[in-house]
Parts: sequence; C-alpha cells; structure tokens
Amino acid sequence: MEEKLNNLLADFTVETHKIQNFHWYIKGEKFFNDHLKLEDYYNAFNEYDDVIAEAMLMDGFEPKATLKDYIANSTIEEGRNVFVSAREAYSELASDFAYLLDKVEEVKKMADDYDDYLISNKMDTLIDDLSKNIWMLKQLLMD
Ligand SMILES: [Fe+2]
Repeated sequence: MEEKLNNLLADFTVETHKIQNFHWYIKGEKFFNDHLKLEDYYNAFNEYDDVIAEAMLMDGFEPKATLKDYIANSTIEEGRNVFVSAREAYSELASDFAYLLDKVEEVKKMADDYDDYLISNKMDTLIDDLSKNIWMLKQLLMD
C-alpha cells in the first residue's frame, strides 16, 4: 500500500510539473486561454499532491518527497522544454489523465481490500476530477 501510494504521489507530482512546463511552452493563437487553463490544471494538481501526501501521513506512511524520489518512482514522462501546440498538449494530458485515473482506481481497490476508508475516500475526489477533465479534453479534441 505504502509503495503504491508513493508511486501515485510521484506520478501526480511529475504531472504537476509537466503541466507547468506546458503552461510556459504553450504556443498558438489561443495562447492567453490555454496559458490560463494550464495554470488551473497545475494548481489543482498541486492540491492533489498535497492531499495524497497528507493522507499518507495520517495513515502512518512515509511520503517519499524529494525530487529524486519523484523521478525514481514515477512512470509519467517529464515535460520536454519545447514549444507545444494546444492540441499536442491537451492530447498528451488526456492520455496522462487516463493513465492516472487507472492508477487511482487501483489504489482505491487496494484501500478497500484493507478497509482503509481514509485513502479510499481521498481517491474519490481524484476519480471525480480526472473523469471530468478526461471527458472535457475528449470534447475539445473531437474533430
Ligand atoms: Fe504562470
């Protein structure tokens, strides 16, 4: 459980920085809108990182929280410091969010098996928010 939560914390934290990287490197005619939307996303993700780490501490687990830990424990591909179009950024986010939703659901299943109501409950907000964002990104990416 602790290892799975540390992997989740690392995935969410790397995603947070990746979104901020897109916020800086987004290009195109809708820059003003996209720059702001990406800021909304990374602010929300920063809050998710905090929720995961603090729930771990409440449960007596040790969040692995150095930058080295995050890179070692995450399987999300980092931001690349290259200019990206909105379509490229949003389509990569849609696929990352779908991956993260799978991971969150795995953690919820495991928490339910261990009767860990706190962690199970915290995963619900993440499931709600990720599902909504995935749906909205799919609408945006529709031809
Ligand atoms: Fe900014």
